[in-house]
Amino acid sequence: MISEKDFIQTNYTISTENGSFEWSAPSNIALVKYWGKKNNQIPANPSVSFTLNHCKTITKLAFTKKPNDGNFSFDLLFEGQPKEDFKPKIQKFFERIFDYCPYLKDFHLTIDTQNTFPHSSGIASSASGMAALAMNVMSLEKVLNPAISEDYFNRKASFLARLGSGSACRSIKGNVVVWGNHAEISGSSDLFGVEFPSTLHENFRNYQDTILLVDKGEKQVSSTVGHDLMFGHPFAEQRFSQAHHNLSSIKHVLESGDVEHFIKIVESEALTLHAMMMTSMPYFILMKPNTLEIINRIWKFRNETQTPVCFTLDAGANVHILYPENTKEKVLQFIKNELVGYCQNGQYICDEIGNGAVNRN
Ligand code: PMV
Repeated sequence: MISEKDFIQTNYTISTENGSFEWSAPSNIALVKYWGKKNNQIPANPSVSFTLNHCKTITKLAFTKKPNDGNFSFDLLFEGQPKEDFKPKIQKFFERIFDYCPYLKDFHLTIDTQNTFPHSSGIASSASGMAALAMNVMSLEKVLNPAISEDYFNRKASFLARLGSGSACRSIKGNVVVWGNHAEISGSSDLFGVEFPSTLHENFRNYQDTILLVDKGEKQVSSTVGHDLMFGHPFAEQRFSQAHHNLSSIKHVLESGDVEHFIKIVESEALTLHAMMMTSMPYFILMKPNTLEIINRIWKFRNETQTPVCFTLDAGANVHILYPENTKEKVLQFIKNELVGYCQNGQYICDEIGNGAVNRN
């Protein structure tokens, strides 16, 4: 089994003075949710997500050799402009990954990052952002040790991204990604995401995700605090075993193409995630009245038209609407007719399943 030790890099030479890379990495939407973690970003339960295609972060990393004085040295730009408030998060990320990437102190780094989705749209950029940065760090590692394989490159990128933001490890490679040990998913690990090992049924190919922006404000409770509240939560153990069970079920669903069963699992997971928040101590609610309006409209539309459309939620008020590609026209019309009024400034983003990070050099 692969352990943390396998990601410690010792076999490298500081052979290059300077250079640069550019990677894009997408966001992802969990079908079976990760909520609750142990030390070092180890998930309390396994999760699985669809990788998105259009919502992504594009990050350029330029490096210049410097004397190793025991410190990290980097500049952080957001859309080309210095962004001081992002620096502490990156500093913390570098500290967490330093044991695995000791060469980071041999270079001055300039990180220039941008998102394809609107800033402060309520869509978390931490998954795509950490994944794009991790890919760049691995490109640097490959320059210093060209012998590393593509598998190692991607696996370690996922491992590093996880240390930045848990769900980021599911944004590296593959259209369906599992993170966390699960008895029926071969190769699955708490340390990194792995591509869903079976063939995805054609019913789920090009699956659509339209993200309705219900509330773009800052979340009242961060994911970090939310995860922590699963310690001592009265329903935690039940929830963790339910996630294992739901992952077994959704594995069969993704193989067999059973969209009806898919809908049941995905909606139940979304509501369970929010039920965990509402039953934490202190308790909190991230859904807004419009979140519930949208959910009810989706249920009504599904009942009346038999269109296999469903919703999921992440840790916020926005609603992800998931549906097969062959229902796209009908669902988009429904969204325009009935749901846009519940979105802040009428905003929504059309996305679909994608394949992961892309090298833009
Ligand atoms: O990766 P984090 O710490 O932001 O947590 C993400 C948690 C959820 O989005 C709610 C669920 C998930 O599995 O992505």
